[in-house]
Amino acid sequence: MSEKLYDIGMVGVAVMGRNLALNMIDHGFDVALFDASRDYTDSFMSTEEAKSKGDKLVATYSLKEFVSKLKTPRRIMMMIKSVDPVPALDVALYPDKAPVDSVISQLIPLLDKGDLLIDGGNTHFTDTERRTKYLSKLGFNFIGTGVSGGEEGARKGPSLMPGGSPESWPIVKPILQAISAKVGANGDVPCCDWIGERGAGHYVKMLHNGIEYGDMQLICDAYWILKNALGATNQELCEIFGAWNKTELNSYLIEITRDIFTVEDPETGEPLIDKILDSAGAKGTGKWTSQLALDLGVPSSLVTEAVYARCISAMKGARARASEVLTGAQGAKFQGDREAFVEKVRRALYAAKICAYAQGFVQLREAAKEYDWNLNLGRIALLWRGGCIIRAVFLERIKDAFDADPNLENLLLDPYFKSAVESAEPALREVVKTAVELGIPVPGFATALTYFDSYRSERLPANLIQAQRDYFGAHTYRRVDKPDGGSFHTDWLKAKK
Ligand code: 6PG
Repeated sequence: MSEKLYDIGMVGVAVMGRNLALNMIDHGFDVALFDASRDYTDSFMSTEEAKSKGDKLVATYSLKEFVSKLKTPRRIMMMIKSVDPVPALDVALYPDKAPVDSVISQLIPLLDKGDLLIDGGNTHFTDTERRTKYLSKLGFNFIGTGVSGGEEGARKGPSLMPGGSPESWPIVKPILQAISAKVGANGDVPCCDWIGERGAGHYVKMLHNGIEYGDMQLICDAYWILKNALGATNQELCEIFGAWNKTELNSYLIEITRDIFTVEDPETGEPLIDKILDSAGAKGTGKWTSQLALDLGVPSSLVTEAVYARCISAMKGARARASEVLTGAQGAKFQGDREAFVEKVRRALYAAKICAYAQGFVQLREAAKEYDWNLNLGRIALLWRGGCIIRAVFLERIKDAFDADPNLENLLLDPYFKSAVESAEPALREVVKTAVELGIPVPGFATALTYFDSYRSERLPANLIQAQRDYFGAHTYRRVDKPDGGSFHTDWLKAKK
């Protein structure tokens, strides 16, 4: 009898790899596993859940054995820790610098042309661009896919954002679409579809994380002003976020925020949230989103501010010292109608969230032009509708907006979002004003309002910047009264009075 062959191989048996493997088996695909750590593999294989999969799951202990267990063309997914991008000069592999490159270079001699490698880590898109080109030249298929939804998503249905060499997609489409989250009236629209060539999938996943950073900071701003201006208790915060989750803010992040306020510290019985050190971590995708927005020259100020908010939170010692020295508005409570103010914070959060997504989609559109991807923004919104961390009802509206106008310049110009943001704008302004008066930092809200006010201003003070640049550096300026602006220089020293 010939030996059983498996539908797909998974390299990396950490939380994400093992849960994706189990999810694949649940959908009828048999999986072979490999992890560099034998102990790791064995500890997973001894779990009840792994054992319950019987011969649908097999552990292997060398890459050679692993490859020999797979049906051809082989499909191999790698869920390996991602690292900072390799500053590559050539289209090549850099096994010393990146674990994914190291695994690929070990696999290559064992594979046949036409086999498919899939990188499901949070990889920087430039690495995926390089790997796709390199592997295509050798005759291998390659996909770099975003995987969102954390541990639970991987197990029950993540949002998947695959990009790479287009010929790769049909080879794995049935598996990836089967394991992904589903949305739509009949629950049958997969949150997984082809994003675009080379690094497009990983760019879109990174941008998802950038929006995630903005969303999380905006929720923190709401929490902080409710707690500090109103003195809301954790019980009240749970009720407020619970109620908000029944409105247009309905989303996974609001839902988990509500839940967080209910959890007690097992040691003291007090609310756990108040025991957690206010110093945020970050793995880098928010920073990359912001860096790449700067490279493109697009104002993704919400993700940037969210990254900075994490940076200043992490300066815990410095903040503690400064708090002993620096004084300012502090400690006063909001005096007006409490219930009305809670509603204003909700509306402010909605308006700011719309601005964050508007920025994110502008960055995606500009990135598509810069890197030559044909991105379908409406379809991307739909992929984020379920499974991922930023999943929200509101993404349906974004999809509708791009369906109605695929060339929509900015979400804020879509009729639905224009009216939503205009009606919530007074609340956002009032909440920011209150926070400013009371000395409560709301970096996300303030940044959203500044973006909104700047974007809708036909004139900004950049004429003065141009004059200053021309004054000290003869950088020239364009004029408002010349058809193409022209190029002018003034001898400011001579002309000044
Ligand atoms: C997801 C998450 C996931 C991860 C973040 C955390 O989509 O499932 O975004 O990718 O939890 O990368 O990022 P930070 O550690 O930078 O907050």
